Amino acid sequence: MKIGDFSLRKREGGRISMLTAYDYSFARLVDSSPVDCVLVGDSAAMVMHGCKSTIDATPEMMAAHVSAVARGAPSKFIVADMPFLSYRSGLKHAMDCAALLLRAGAGAVKLEGVDGHEDIIRAMTSSDIPVMGHLGLTPQSILKLGAYRVQGRSPSAAEAIFCQASRLEGAGCFALVLECVPDELARRVTESLAIPTIGIGAGPHTDGQVLVLQDALGLCAERTPRFVKKFMDGRAVIGEAISRFDAEVKNGAFPQKEHSCG
Ligand code: KIV
Repeated sequence: MKIGDFSLRKREGGRISMLTAYDYSFARLVDSSPVDCVLVGDSAAMVMHGCKSTIDATPEMMAAHVSAVARGAPSKFIVADMPFLSYRSGLKHAMDCAALLLRAGAGAVKLEGVDGHEDIIRAMTSSDIPVMGHLGLTPQSILKLGAYRVQGRSPSAAEAIFCQASRLEGAGCFALVLECVPDELARRVTESLAIPTIGIGAGPHTDGQVLVLQDALGLCAERTPRFVKKFMDGRAVIGEAISRFDAEVKNGAFPQKEHSCG
């Protein structure tokens, strides 16, 4: 998938699949799948580094993950998250961070929200930096939100998100992630925009869906949100292999002759 294919897919009525990846080996698996595009999310801070929130992600952390993913998934369109405050500290800071991520191998960057940094989004898109928006539950706002919960439930909150989506399209975003909003709001936003929406916990009416890969594979130890579908029980399968390794080392079943170097 290339940048122009996002709106084309929407015009043709097709759907977009996106998964996160943060490292080379998982990126290789996604690269050999039909999944359309890869998100190097700032959720890397939590999933890969064990941090409490995405606030701990830094431009350098993101760039290291982007370059590993770009080496593992050379055939995929890669979107990289601009981390906390990187687009709230002036245009130069935002541009430098975007340049870092694009040079590391991303084809686009993703930013959360629009209030207070609409000008920066406009400056980026008019400098030919492809920008994906992100509305609804914006995890970088966790200190203000207090908890990860559904956004846009009240009529006024829904209206605010609806208007923000239109402003992001007007600012030149090529696609929009909608996270944890009611299905009906996601449907209204999706129908009102020419750019595609990609949902996570936003119901079935968006133009695409994104999940954190480790959630989809059942690898997360923590309780996952109810919108996550586990496509396998990765913790059980991998946990069993790790225990078998331990047992076979201790009972002498491993290594056998075929595993020795002679
Ligand atoms: O960081 C991330 O993984 C994300 C997705 C949840 C959309 O932004």
